[in-house]
Amino acid sequence: MIAEPTWVFGYGSLIYKVDFPYLERRNATIEGWERRFWQGSHDHRGTPEAPGRVVTLIEVPGARCRGVAYRVEPVVFEHLDHREKNGYDRHRLPVRLDGAGEPVDGLIYVARPDNPAFLGPASLDELAAHINEAQGPSGSNRDYLLALAEALHGLDSFDPHVHALAERVDALVAAAGTP
Ligand code: SIN
Repeated sequence: MIAEPTWVFGYGSLIYKVDFPYLERRNATIEGWERRFWQGSHDHRGTPEAPGRVVTLIEVPGARCRGVAYRVEPVVFEHLDHREKNGYDRHRLPVRLDGAGEPVDGLIYVARPDNPAFLGPASLDELAAHINEAQGPSGSNRDYLLALAEALHGLDSFDPHVHALAERVDALVAAAGTP
């Protein structure tokens, strides 16, 4: 039960699709986690028959993950819990806000390997081919990836996993457009 305004750290679509009210928004970093396109999406970027692939976080000692933190009223978590319902659970952790001294207490939505929608690792070529094909009620899986890549660019952040996938998907699109 969340009783007071709380920071939530977004590292995927929560960076660029902000369909909720917030009290403050800050670029931020978490430590010990890396982004991966290892979570299946049945409800946003794919369907139960043909799931898409969206990001989750895996624990990697020493890693840093850039994103955006929002301080939100408790009621906003009803919306976020619904939006992230396909396998994500809330996890509490320290969040470093840009320009602030001590980390603040915050929440992330993380999809763990034991959730039924988890797809797990695959080669970058396989991930890119999958993302290039999938579609769901929230739009194409390709747009999810490319919007995330652009948002990270806007944060001056380089994520090798996202960057490599965006490059591969761009190449697949270019190849498909060539007569
Ligand atoms: C997040 O953005 O923080 C969670 C994953 C997603 O909704 O894409």
